[in-house]
Amino acid sequence: MSISPVASILIDDLAQLASPAGRAAPLRGADLRSLDVIEHAAVAIVDGVVAAAGDRERVLRAHPELPIHDAGGRAAIPGLIDCHTHAAFGGDRANEFDLRAQGAGYEQIHAAGGGIAASVAATRAAAGEGSLGAALDRHLAWMAAQGTTTAEVKSGYGLDRDTELAMLDAVRAPHAIETAATFLRAHAVAPEFGEDADGYLDFVLADVLSAAADRAEAADVFLERGAFSAAQAERYLRAAAGHGLALRLHADQFSEAGGVELAIRLGARSVDHLEATGPGGVDALAASDVAAVVLPACALMLDLPRPPARALVDGGAVVALATDFNPGSAFCDSLPLVMSLACMQLRLTPAEALAACTVNAAWVLGRAERLGRIAPGYDGDVVILEADDWRHVAYHLGGRVAADVFKRGERL
Ligand code: NIG
Ligand code: FE
Repeated sequence: MSISPVASILIDDLAQLASPAGRAAPLRGADLRSLDVIEHAAVAIVDGVVAAAGDRERVLRAHPELPIHDAGGRAAIPGLIDCHTHAAFGGDRANEFDLRAQGAGYEQIHAAGGGIAASVAATRAAAGEGSLGAALDRHLAWMAAQGTTTAEVKSGYGLDRDTELAMLDAVRAPHAIETAATFLRAHAVAPEFGEDADGYLDFVLADVLSAAADRAEAADVFLERGAFSAAQAERYLRAAAGHGLALRLHADQFSEAGGVELAIRLGARSVDHLEATGPGGVDALAASDVAAVVLPACALMLDLPRPPARALVDGGAVVALATDFNPGSAFCDSLPLVMSLACMQLRLTPAEALAACTVNAAWVLGRAERLGRIAPGYDGDVVILEADDWRHVAYHLGGRVAADVFKRGERL
């Protein structure tokens, strides 16, 4: 994990301060939409941590020593947390975007050697010439400009020892925002192994898992037809758990292939995508402690069925939202846009969408004690919006919503 420097500041003259209320993370059911909105507020951040937040006069009286940032009557929300990205990659796949607009399918492009394999070639080249860190920083700057102050970033575009470890090292290096590294070695079978997924996994588990476990917080797998089967995913994830890594899964993106059941059986932190999840999977997740991470920008970009976010929330599942930022299926760095999609297409309320990419996303990343709310003791991660009503973060579709972003009190 990389954590940015700390600063002290008093953010004054907030028309509204909106922060998820109530119970400890993760939030479920009706708790997901329980939000504290304080009018005429201020936030005092001392050495990177919130010391006071709420009524403006009270906060100003308690912290006369702090330098003041004038928010000019705008609204503030907690720094957004993107708990699922693939932001460390070389090149882009604008050509595939063009092909898909002409009718080609994502799985078809993947099977023909494009897709993930194209990004593997570009990412190996970037790592080889030493430009991968710069590419990641550029992507993280895009995310921060939209209000993201913490991002999970996966490996999985190297698929060889050196590039995968270089990806994890790039993620762990210091950045303007906080990052969490996930080892996604089972993203696709490396080109050197042809179709031999089992042979590739034998090699991965023997070759690189322990070095990766020193660098990553979690392991992830793409469980899907054309990628890895449930049995293969189980072998990979059990080995990763043995090295102390938290478990994540990409599952039910195109087909239900046992990913939800496996995630629950292994006690995974999350199962992500869920565009193809039916009522049985919804019920199973609702009765479990595995977070359902929904990625509406990916569903939009690939024109997939919408993930059943409303049913998951109503059933009581732990629901989080993320961008899935990657060069193929979701070239989208904006959590505000994802919140808009969640409200318009998945029928979440703005308050539910906010909690899903603050408190619950922090929980998915094992950071709920420190991130996801603006409250005393939490890190001073604050987004000042361009509006005086916090709901503009989701309402202003594709707009410029973040006026100023603070990470641990430091203005980005
Ligand atoms: O989460 N589904 C698998 N992996 C990524 C996409 C990777 C790519 O197309 O480069 C995802 O959508
Ligand atoms: Fe993904």
